[in-house]
Amino acid sequence: MSCKKAYITTPIYYVNDIAHIGHAYTTIIADTLARYSRMSGLDTFFLTGTDEHGQKIEHSALDRGKTPQEYADEIAATFKTLWDDFDISYDKFIRTTDADHKLGVQKAFLKMKENGDIYKDVYKGHYCISCETFFPKTQLVDDEFCPECGRSTTVVEEESYFFRLSEYQDRLLEWYESNPDCILPKSKRNEVIRFVEGGLDDLSITRTSFDWGVKLPAELNDPKHVMYVWLDALMNYLTALGYGTDESDIDYWPARVHLIGKDILRFHAIYWPAFLMSLDMPLPKHIAAHGWWTRDGAKMSKSKGNVVNPKEVADAYGLDNFRYFMLREVPFGGDGDFSQKALIDRINSDLGNDLGNLLNRLIGMSGKYFEGRVDSSKVSEYYQTELDEVNDSIAKLEPFVFEMQLHRYLEELWRPLSVANKAIDKYQPWAMMKEGREEEAMALNGLIATILAKVSIMLYPIMPQISPKISSALGFEISHDSWSRYITGDDVVDEFTIEKIPPLFPRIEETLLAHVEPEEKKPKDTKKSKKDEKAKESDEGIALIGIDQFFQTSLKIGTVVEAEEVAKSKKLLLLQVDIGEETPRQVVAGIKEWYSAESLVGTQVCVVANLKPAKLMGMKSEGMLLAAKDSSGLSLIRPETLKANGTDIG
Ligand code: MSP
Repeated sequence: MSCKKAYITTPIYYVNDIAHIGHAYTTIIADTLARYSRMSGLDTFFLTGTDEHGQKIEHSALDRGKTPQEYADEIAATFKTLWDDFDISYDKFIRTTDADHKLGVQKAFLKMKENGDIYKDVYKGHYCISCETFFPKTQLVDDEFCPECGRSTTVVEEESYFFRLSEYQDRLLEWYESNPDCILPKSKRNEVIRFVEGGLDDLSITRTSFDWGVKLPAELNDPKHVMYVWLDALMNYLTALGYGTDESDIDYWPARVHLIGKDILRFHAIYWPAFLMSLDMPLPKHIAAHGWWTRDGAKMSKSKGNVVNPKEVADAYGLDNFRYFMLREVPFGGDGDFSQKALIDRINSDLGNDLGNLLNRLIGMSGKYFEGRVDSSKVSEYYQTELDEVNDSIAKLEPFVFEMQLHRYLEELWRPLSVANKAIDKYQPWAMMKEGREEEAMALNGLIATILAKVSIMLYPIMPQISPKISSALGFEISHDSWSRYITGDDVVDEFTIEKIPPLFPRIEETLLAHVEPEEKKPKDTKKSKKDEKAKESDEGIALIGIDQFFQTSLKIGTVVEAEEVAKSKKLLLLQVDIGEETPRQVVAGIKEWYSAESLVGTQVCVVANLKPAKLMGMKSEGMLLAAKDSSGLSLIRPETLKANGTDIG
């Protein structure tokens, strides 16, 4: 086995909230890379963990009446449990409250200071607690709001240590220039270059106005300062390998890849390499920034109540199916939209039809004609063309992995499946058997089994639970050895008797995400007398109406074709909604707190279409949108699948 090393990291997650689909996405990509590395023989170290210091966490803890440490312990445990439930193959789960991490950060601070990169001054400016970022006034929106998240910033004026980031501009630019793959996707590298070319300010790297953070090294005798949370957090990538304490794993450095989301690229692509240069440490090979997940077209947020819970999805649809969906659906770097329909389509079509059915066909053919036996010894005699085609595809896969092109990897991996399915249709084993061409039919079985063997191995990093089921039905285990035989080598599978296994991807009908809803309260008196227009009351005191009263309300499906904010209003959005009439309806809706105008365009809504027009802030509103609001926020009610505009609801 080669002793080349691969160090793969996820961001460390803030402990101010529980994990959502965005966190799961980063972690699953990193897990895929780690599994691929190990399988292909690299000595791999996979790191994940939690980012526990800073003002944001301190506030979240205090809001809940807990100490920051208690709160961090609680949330860090939920992340760890989730990753364990998801069988994430991390080698270390780091917490920034770990004692050796704190020591390592202090050592780094001293080293940067010794190198002349740290000086003390006064920081005056604005700070966004949510993004844990300083902003100069020139970058604020309306002189107050954070340009990243839109929240109000606080004015800070305090003594601070500074890192001479400005001194690193040239060296950073040189690094980007001479390492075209250092930031992936490459378009992001150009963005970073443009930003750095614009000039860099020195960076404030300590705070004095709160104390939930790593203290400065005792040698500096300056106890009122704590480290800036991003210096503390970024250092985790080194301290996890023992930097500054027990350095036995430090040889894994430099990282093969830091996986991150696009929102934290600046910290990783500018601050982090500059810190590393100051520490005289080599720079990472790749910093790979993925895009953002939305849900049904809308930005996810707790206040909107539309956050996708990864555990709920994995429990409802299968963990490996969820992994496959996320990696196949979105080109790396692009934004992705989570919808149940897209997920179900992928499972039924790619996994069920293309992969699952192929295995079923093999089980069926072997059972029917050869008592389950598969013998591949004559494959190349009859099907060399197909084998060549398959081996060509397999050989193209590896480069996609560390270029982060996992969607292309999967696309290419599906070609062998198509070769196999087409071969069965073309050569028709049933006809061969009728004509007594048994050897050819058996060789076809061998071809299909060999293709499935190769695909199961290459699919393993993405689907680590399902792939071994396929390989075990084919009589082998996925390992570095089978990789060497079937992937880098061109072996066909050994003779074996196929194991009948239940379908791996039973067809899923579109259903709601599995979540428990309170039992519907059925009104007891639903009998309607035409004369009786007066609403009755149910036992629970709810006004009861008859069905035709209900149908007096015209409810229709519509698509938002235009949306804009109503100037000077904190609540209102002005929407044009196509409900299948000649011109779109104008609807003024009080939903700005939960939805941005852009996120609504192109999405479907339910409209009360026969309300008397009303005027809101001087604008005519010709309808109302159905929505549900509880303590977690407001969600629009939408059709589960696309419906024609103007479709009646009822
Ligand atoms: N603690 C910092 C990272 C420090 S790394 C030295 C942090 N934490 S985070 O919990 O807010 O975010 C962690 C990761 O989740 C980021 O990579 C971020 O991009 C990702 N995501 C958070 N929401 C997301 C989506 N809606 N979609 C995709 N990923 C998103 O930032």
